[in-house]
Amino acid sequence: MILPIVGYGDPVLKKKAGEIDSSYPGLKELIDNMWETMYNASGVGLAAPQIGKSIRLFVIDASPFEEEDNKLKDFKKVFINPVIIEERGQEWYFNEGCLSFPDLREDVARRPRIRIRYQDEEFKIFEQDYDGIAARIIQHEYDHIEGIVFVDRITPLKRRLIKNKLTSIVKGTVKASYKMRFARNT
Ligand code: NI
Repeated sequence: MILPIVGYGDPVLKKKAGEIDSSYPGLKELIDNMWETMYNASGVGLAAPQIGKSIRLFVIDASPFEEEDNKLKDFKKVFINPVIIEERGQEWYFNEGCLSFPDLREDVARRPRIRIRYQDEEFKIFEQDYDGIAARIIQHEYDHIEGIVFVDRITPLKRRLIKNKLTSIVKGTVKASYKMRFARNT
């Protein structure tokens, strides 16, 4: 089932999400719905707060970036209760978008290498290193469960330049090619 994606301005996007365990009701169906919602919106990642659930869960399918990095071809993963243990290297800029911000892209600086501990759908624990675009997508989605959105990471000057755009997202006057739920829908 395709779920409405929460637009910027909804308080759920500002909240630090909580951990879950295997008794979380309807988890398998929720994950299935998140995949369907993400693919329907042509996204490469979707975090649970973006569908209105403040839990530490996100899904990523980085295969559209296969051309940039061959090892992303099979990068399709569910991350539950993740913790980024380490971020290393010189910050680099990458043009990011976010399904909660239709029609907006901004360059965001992040470190290129991370180590993350997480659980999969079976609640098996993994610890892995990622770099480049894979690390980038994980960092973006991880921010969501920490209550941070990508425009929090751009300069105040840049944010001022997109103020009207952000207001139109809050108000729900922006156009999106997928189903959304806006903070202040009139
Ligand atoms: Ni996002």
